[in-house]
Parts: sequence; C-alpha cells; structure tokens
Amino acid sequence: MSDLSTIRREALDAVSAAVDLGALEAARVAVLGKKGSVTGLMKTLGAMAPEQRKEFGAKVNELKGEIEAALEARKGTLSSSALAARLASEKIDVSLPARPEGQGTLHPIGQVMDELGAIFGEMGFTWADGPDIEDDWHNFTALNIPPDHPARQMQDTFYLPPRADGTPMVLRTHTSPVQARTMLNKDVQKRLADGGSLRVIVPGRTFRIDNDATHTPMFHQVEGLVIDRTTHMGHLKGCLYDFCRAFFEVDELPIRFRPSYFPFTEPSAEVDIGCSWKDGELRIGAGDSWLEILGCGMVHPRANANCGHDPAIYQGIAIGMGIDRIAMLKYGIPDLRAFFDADLRWLRHYGFSALESVR
Ligand code: DAH
Repeated sequence: MSDLSTIRREALDAVSAAVDLGALEAARVAVLGKKGSVTGLMKTLGAMAPEQRKEFGAKVNELKGEIEAALEARKGTLSSSALAARLASEKIDVSLPARPEGQGTLHPIGQVMDELGAIFGEMGFTWADGPDIEDDWHNFTALNIPPDHPARQMQDTFYLPPRADGTPMVLRTHTSPVQARTMLNKDVQKRLADGGSLRVIVPGRTFRIDNDATHTPMFHQVEGLVIDRTTHMGHLKGCLYDFCRAFFEVDELPIRFRPSYFPFTEPSAEVDIGCSWKDGELRIGAGDSWLEILGCGMVHPRANANCGHDPAIYQGIAIGMGIDRIAMLKYGIPDLRAFFDADLRWLRHYGFSALESVR
C-alpha cells in the first residue's frame, strides 16, 4: 500500500530531521496527533470489511509502533545533546579569581574591644555589661562619691529626668558603675564566699558634656575589676605591664605608675607608657616622653562595703581606661571626632578586615 509506505517515509524523515525537542513534538503531532496521518489511517478502519480491517489494522499498528520507537530514540538523542549543549554553555571556570564583593570593615573601637577581650581573657577575665542609662547611686554613691562630694564635679554629667519613684538618673559618666553591679550580683557573692574570685572587664559607652578634638560627648571606656581575698598592688602592676606590652606590641615598653586620686580606689595611680616624638610622629616605646593611658588602684574599702563585700575579708584592684584614646595611640589616628562621623572613606582607611579581628 503506497499510502502506508509514504506515510511511513514522511513520518520517519520528519523524526530524523527534527533538530530539537520542539521540532520533534511537532513531528509527533503531525503523525499521531488528533489530525495526524497515522491517526487518519486508524479512522478509516471502522469502514472496512472485517477481513480487510484485520489485515490493514495490523499494518497500521505496526507502523504506529515503529514511528513511536523512532520518536523515542530521537528524543533520547536530542535530550542528551541538549544537556551536553547546556553543560558546555554553562561551564564554570573554577580557576578564575572570585569577583570581589563589597565588604565592610570593623571600626577601630570594635577592633580594640576584641583585642582587649583577647588579652584580658587570657588572664582569666570575663566580659560584663551594664546599662548606658544609670541611676545616680550606681554611677556615684556606691563608688564612694556621695551626693555632696566634690569629685562629682570631675565628671561633666548628663543628668536625666528622675524615674517615677524619684530615683535620680544619669547617662553613665564611666564604666565604673558596672563594678558595683557585678559586685552586688548574688552569684558573684556566693562564688567569693566559696573562696573564688571575680575578674571582669567592662568595655562600653560612656557620656560626658565635652566636645573638642580629644573629647566627644559619647566615648568608650573599659573597666577592669578583680575581687578576692589576696589580690594586691603587685598584681595590679603585673597585670598592667602584661596588658600594655601585649596591647601596644612593644616588649620592653616602659611603664610608670604615678600616685593619683580616685574616690573608689585607695591607693590610686595613673599609668603612663613611654613614647617619643619624631618629626611630629608619635612612637610608642622607650623614649623621652610619657603618655597617660589609664587610672587604677586598690578598690576602696568603702566602695567594697557599699557593694556588699566586707573589706576586712575582700580586696581587689580596679582599672579604668579610655578605649578611644588607646585606639588612637596604637593605630595613629589623629582626631577623636572622626571616630563617630560615620564617614565611609575614614572607615575604609582605618577599619579592619573581619578576618584580622582576633589576634
Ligand atoms: N572611672 C574613672 C573615670 O572615668 C576611671 C577609673 C580610674 C576607673 C581608676 C577605675 C580606676 O576603675 O581604678 O575617670
């Protein structure tokens, strides 16, 4: 039957000529779809005499099977070549350098806080926190600065409206109120009663009414506090020698303790590190000048007692340091105000990569 063989040839030609899956589907529809050529042959069977239908039906079915097999085979070839083409076009060269992504930097203050944490952490200190908005008692009275004490004038305080119960409130003028807060902590008191010790650093924000090239109304301090039954001035000196030399990365850094006054320590000292100036540039290390970097002392018995510790049993050391100041000194940053201007160019210049952050 020429009709059958023509349909066969045309169908198989269309299948092998299909260049992609879309063309193959069009070929399938032309043969096996509702109006397809083979479907048309099927439709003629109904009108045939039984004998003829049997014979012709078998041939049409055979042809249908043959075309379906050809469609399937071509589909397999086309899909694998489509996949191969996709793989080739999407090939990634893993040896190409990565596209640089816009990356932020760590602010020098955050960097220095991490460094402080790492150095004091190695000496067994943990990190404590306290509120920026503080009550007058924790900020002053607990630390042996009673309401009429002249030392209150050493700190230009931002006073806030009192709480509903009348408690006078301030923006904390130093991190020292966290000394009182940790000493009053019940778990800490139990640990001390059991013969243990308290060792904390408190890096954080502090506030005073002040604004010039070396002062900003918001600045940062770190407090250090050790309380136990035996810690003395010798430990304070050892701890600060180790800290200063590690922080400034100068092994033989000269360090000087000068007697001073703070209401919450007795004796009290200010600590200077050696430095020199050459062509207007500061060099930290042995030299002919000194830079003051912190205040410290033995915790005053009255501060100890105010915070629930019997000064006949417990004693300790306290340290207070300006973080912004030591960051400026270590990293040669000239103007304090630029720290808080949020100028991206400044941050890109003085900021630190996150990967460098911990020593
Ligand atoms: N709180 C003091 C201030 O801001 C700094 C200070 C000095 C803290 C001596 C201390 C200390 O813990 O022992 O001026």
